[in-house]
Parts: sequence; structure tokens; C-alpha cells
Amino acid sequence: MADQFNYDNFFSAGSQNSAPGSVRHAKYDFAVAYPDPESLPLEDLIESVRSGFEREGRDLAYYSTAAGDPELRRLVAEKLARQRNMKVSADDVVLTSGSGEAVGIVIQALTDPGDVALTEEFVYLGTLNQMRRYGADVVGIRCDDDGIIPEDLDSVITEQTAKGKKVKYLYTIPMFQNPLGWTMTLERRKQVLEVTGKHGIPVFEDDCYADLRFEGEDVTSFHSLDDTGRVIYVGSFSKIIAPGMRMGYLVAPKEVIGRAWSFKSGGAVSQFTALTIAEYMKGGIDRHIEEQNRALAAKRDAMVAALGENFGSSVTWTVPQGGLYVWVKFPEGTDLAAVQEEVFDEGVSYYNGSQFSPSGEGSNFVRLCFGHPSVTTIHEGIAELARILDRKKVFPG
Ligand SMILES: Cc1ncc(COP(=O)(O)O)c(C=O)c1O
Repeated sequence: MADQFNYDNFFSAGSQNSAPGSVRHAKYDFAVAYPDPESLPLEDLIESVRSGFEREGRDLAYYSTAAGDPELRRLVAEKLARQRNMKVSADDVVLTSGSGEAVGIVIQALTDPGDVALTEEFVYLGTLNQMRRYGADVVGIRCDDDGIIPEDLDSVITEQTAKGKKVKYLYTIPMFQNPLGWTMTLERRKQVLEVTGKHGIPVFEDDCYADLRFEGEDVTSFHSLDDTGRVIYVGSFSKIIAPGMRMGYLVAPKEVIGRAWSFKSGGAVSQFTALTIAEYMKGGIDRHIEEQNRALAAKRDAMVAALGENFGSSVTWTVPQGGLYVWVKFPEGTDLAAVQEEVFDEGVSYYNGSQFSPSGEGSNFVRLCFGHPSVTTIHEGIAELARILDRKKVFPG
């Protein structure tokens, strides 16, 4: 075989080797946040493709407007007005490849290396990784079951500023927080807005789980509580249709969108997907969300019951009113990080707390996702996890 060309002297200084790997699945997969493939509304989506394309398919001959399909943006704006009390129109919404892209371009627009990005004390690792990639100094704020603790937020901002650091934004996942599971109360949201307002810092609201409520009262968005343009908002179709659709959205003041957009590559999002989703939104999506939430509630219950049957009282866990995750706390000193790979090889996957922590602490926690496995698989998998941890003397079952 011929020698392969060597690119070493050609890469740009900023490029990093982050080759896309294939995702490995354990037999009992509690790690990654997938929906149950059986729950996807395939028939309705196929019908949406057909009817959307009969009407507008020939428009695929053109590049769509940069912000993405105007009809889908209108439908998103309407949904946000109806369900999240947001005063927005289609012009305030831009479509992105999943909310992950929206999060990434906003981070790039706001972050210079060394700037401080504030997050909850444990935070979605996709965001954490993006913040780190662009050089943010990520600082976690302590939380309790009601959300971010405002006093801690205040003192962290004060401390960081006194050290000469520039605090750029607070990123928050206020609904069914990933990985912690709580929903921030209205009172806390107001306090968080007050504290960040006092220091003049934007709030970056990631609301991608807002639709996954199984029970309890809804809480309005941060965005709806502010009328000064200080809240930047992202949402997604990944959790209510499927991650493979790669469709999310960003709502932000014009100048923020303008700056963030300068980091978007590849032009507008897929018009094929946008047209399909727009059509589906006019049809069965609300019914699908209701059905999905009923199924997710049963899975949450199964996971909570299985944890109760297999782990003693020294292990505690959250019982979230929605979302996809149960957050489990093992006694101090238990190291779930050290054995994660071995446990995976034996058939059970999870993510341990240190992966979500800006400071790398928390290996006595695990996040268990109940979205993908069936109720039966959840029962079997949690029992298997307990057996493996017992056998490895990580935690006595
Ligand atoms: C809090 C949060 N934000 C953003 C994302 C990215 O989702 P997507 O890019 O598929 O919309 C996820 C995915 O799990 C998430 O949990």
C-alpha cells in the first residue's frame, strides 16, 4: 500500500483531534439519552413527509433562508408563546442542527479563553465540553431541590470578579435539569434573574426538556420573566420527536444571533427535515408528546422501584416529575468512575457524576437515563447493576 499523506504540518493551530467515534451500547444502556425506538411516531412522520412534499417539495431546488424554514419558525414561535409564555415571533427564532449547535455557537460568540461560564454544579456534558473547548473557565454553582442557590450564585460572581475574571453568562437547564432532574421553582428563577441582573450578566436558558412533564405544575420560562433581552433561549425537537432529526432553535436578541451566526457552518438547516417537522407540528405532535410522557412516567416509576428493590437505604435518588434522568447518590467515597468501563463491559452503562462536574468531583453519583430501555429491561438492568457493584466490592448489594 502507498504511504499515506501526512497532514501534521498543515493543521491549523486551533484544530483539535476530536474524531467522531461510534457510540457503543451496553446491553442495559442507562448512559445516553435516547428515546425508545419503538416510541417514534414513524407513521405520522412518513405522512408528514408525503403531504409536505406534495405541496412544497419542489422548493428543495433552492437554498432555504439562512434562519431556516419560515413556516417552522412561525410554528416554533407560536409554541413558545403558548407553552413557555414567550413574547416572540418567527423573526426572533433561528433553526439550528439540534440545540447542541445553538449552544455551541452562542458559547463561541460569548467566550474568550479564560472567561468564566457559570453552570449548575452538575451540567450536561455536551455543553461542558463545548465550554471547555472554547477556553471557558467553567464554574459550578451549588444547587438544591429548588434549583440554583441564589446566595451561592451571588458570592461566586463577586469572588470571580474580585479575582479580575470576566463572568460572561450563566447557563442553566431549568426544566428537568440534566443530570440532576429538578425543575427550578418560579421563586428561584426570579431570584436568579435578580442576582445576575445586579451583576449585569446574561442568562442562557437551555429548555430542551420543557415538554417532558409527566406530573406537577408547569413553571414559566426564564425568557418570559425578562423584558430586557438578557435571556438567550434554546430548545430542541430531539426530545419530543427524535435526536436523529437534528433540529433545534435559538431565540435571542438580534445582535446575539448575528454574532452567534458567524460561527454557524453549512448554511441553513435541512429543509427536508424542517418541512417534515412543520407538517408534523400541524398534526399529531401534541398527542405524541402525551403518549410519550405516559410511557416515560411508567419507566421512571420502574427505575425508582428497581432502585428501591436492589439498593439499601444508604443510596438515595431523585424522583423527577419529567425529563429522562434519575440522579443517584451513593455514600461518600464510593467510586463509580473507577469501575464505569468494567461495568460497561459486563453489560450496564451509566455516566458517573464527575463527568458532569466542572470541578471533576462527584464520582459517588450516577445518572441513569430511563428513556431508551423498556420497563422490563429497566428492572433487569438495575438488578444487574446491583449484582455487578456487589461482586466488584464497589458497593454491597
Ligand atoms: C441539556 C441539553 N441540551 C442540549 C442537548 C443537545 O440536544 P440536541 O442537540 O439533540 O438538541 C442535550 C442532549 O441530551 C441536553 O441534554
